[in-house]
Amino acid sequence: MDIAFEHSARQDANPDITAHTVLVLGIESSCDETAASVIRLPRGGAPEILSSRISSQDELHRPYGGVVPEMAARAHMDKIQSIIAGAVEDAGINYTDLDGIAATSGPGLIGGVITGLMAAKGLALSLDKPLIAVNHLEGHALSARLSAPCPFPYLLLLVSGGHTQLLSVNDLGDYSRLGSTVDDAAGEAFDKTAKIMGLGFPGGPNVERAAKAGNAKRFKLPRPFAGTDHADFSFAGLKTAAARTFASMDNPDDQDKADLAASFQTAVCGALTDRTQRAMMMFRKRHGDGPQRLVVAGGVAANVQIRAALDTVCTENDFVLMCPPLKFCTDNAAMIALAGAEKLLAGEIDNLDAPARPRWPLDETAARRNPASGSGRKGPKS
Ligand code: KG4
Ligand code: ZN
Repeated sequence: MDIAFEHSARQDANPDITAHTVLVLGIESSCDETAASVIRLPRGGAPEILSSRISSQDELHRPYGGVVPEMAARAHMDKIQSIIAGAVEDAGINYTDLDGIAATSGPGLIGGVITGLMAAKGLALSLDKPLIAVNHLEGHALSARLSAPCPFPYLLLLVSGGHTQLLSVNDLGDYSRLGSTVDDAAGEAFDKTAKIMGLGFPGGPNVERAAKAGNAKRFKLPRPFAGTDHADFSFAGLKTAAARTFASMDNPDDQDKADLAASFQTAVCGALTDRTQRAMMMFRKRHGDGPQRLVVAGGVAANVQIRAALDTVCTENDFVLMCPPLKFCTDNAAMIALAGAEKLLAGEIDNLDAPARPRWPLDETAARRNPASGSGRKGPKS
């Protein structure tokens, strides 16, 4: 089918920008979760999550200590149709009731992104419904709005296995990067440190479990960028320092592992709170004094010590901490459906030639001007 035909087909799928309420299917497949969700969003109202199905690939990747992209892509292909059908059935609707189909179209592992996006395009074409190509990070940025009122603007700390960023969420589609990791993401550092210590995958929860019995003061680990006047992160040096410390121990026992896990977790926690405090100052310069909100999203937000430390920083700086329920913090399709529904109500839809984008920074201007990590042929990461 040629692209010109696809373009003209979309003219029939123009969204009703006066619609009062929209019903949107969201699809997520950018990493190791295959997910689909149906939500109903009234204009200016609270979203209703009619269904949310997730199939996790944790078991598949566990033996390798990390996500294997080729295996992830195949597992998405195996699961995508049944997950979508299940989400539509759970919602008690027919496909024809939908007002739009939203799918993550990046950033992420390209095989998975293509699988979800192609499924969405097939549905959009056959049902003659608008396609909304959603940035996965925009899904995370809006996820707090799934469970509680959270008006713009707010400060967002996104801490997952693939991303660690501080963003000013100014409005729908208007995001300013305040800080970003220059190397590893925080979750990635947790996962790699756990792998080195033989704690298993995914590393974050296992490090947290081990740390409970540990002495966080036993090992002095670096706090990269602490006190600097920007809000960027770096975790590669910290991860290497933890690996060296582990390698220097003779036959480490469970207590040694617990002490290193606790010291590492405390160092990550210190880095996250220090950088977030810096970003709060930057956010206030843009949005003024008075009470503000900090939203935390991404899998690392599950960590109890990190949540508690962020809560303290918020209290000290007149910010209210908003942590979406864990099921919306980690990768899910309800956040993609919500971003799609908000965009659909704003009249923003995409053509069927919308590309899958392995790299897609939310603040493209800042990323082009000053790439925080990785650039070159594929473009800037963040
Ligand atoms: O957001 P997410 O589910 O997936 C993406 O990376 O997009 O985040 C997964 C990451 C993994 O790196 C995992 O180790 C980390 O979040 N994580 C945690 C905890 N639970 C999950 N890190 C620290 N403490 C936890 N309790
Ligand atoms: Zn994510």
